Amino acid sequence: MPVDGELFRAILGSFPSGVTVVTAMDRDGTPRGLTSNAVCAVSADPPLLLVCVSKASQTLPAIRSSGAFAVNFLAEGRHEVSHRFATKDPAKFESVAWHPSNVAGGAPVLAADSLAVAECVVTGAVEAGDHWIFVGRIDGGEIRDGVPLMYFRRRYGAWATGDVEGAGIPGLGEAVPAEDLDPGSRPELP
Ligand SMILES: Cc1cc2nc3c(=O)[nH]c(=O)nc-3n(C[C@H](O)[C@H](O)[C@H](O)COP(=O)(O)O)c2cc1C
Repeated sequence: MPVDGELFRAILGSFPSGVTVVTAMDRDGTPRGLTSNAVCAVSADPPLLLVCVSKASQTLPAIRSSGAFAVNFLAEGRHEVSHRFATKDPAKFESVAWHPSNVAGGAPVLAADSLAVAECVVTGAVEAGDHWIFVGRIDGGEIRDGVPLMYFRRRYGAWATGDVEGAGIPGLGEAVPAEDLDPGSRPELP
């Protein structure tokens, strides 16, 4: 017997994540987007990721019709943006700066609120329960300095910048070459 929805959310909510806004442009030119943390890297070559979108989402028809979407990885302090895109408010785009992606069917890019953006073309879709999984090939993207907005057990949090070793991205701590790490603490790499 499957567990109930409450236990499902409690279990999955125990896996900390970043927070994204997945966006797409509707056929009639209406920008659509939803807060999402069901985002996962899939493949490096070709560069693929996946997003899981509820069948009840207003953004879903826009992803389908445009065959494209953008994943905006929110920066620290953007919990208001996350709140807003977790609603059905038709005016949710009015309070954010955005521009249309020219490689992802005009999907809104929230550059000022994001640490990174992945502009994707849909290469596959799988129905899974009450969601659709979309696989997207990343045809455009950008990153900028900073640290992420984080989410754990229905609460927003901040990245502890001092804890980072070897991240190699400005603003996320100094990179430490693998050969300089204490051999005792060096992880086995696959
Ligand atoms: C932190 C967080 C993560 C979420 N992740 C997802 C997700 O991965 N997929 C999804 O369909 N909804 C997710 N939601 C819920 C949607 O953001 C919410 O249902 C939203 O109102 C959908 O907007 P739309 O109908 O305009 O697309 C999440 C909400 C929050 C607060």
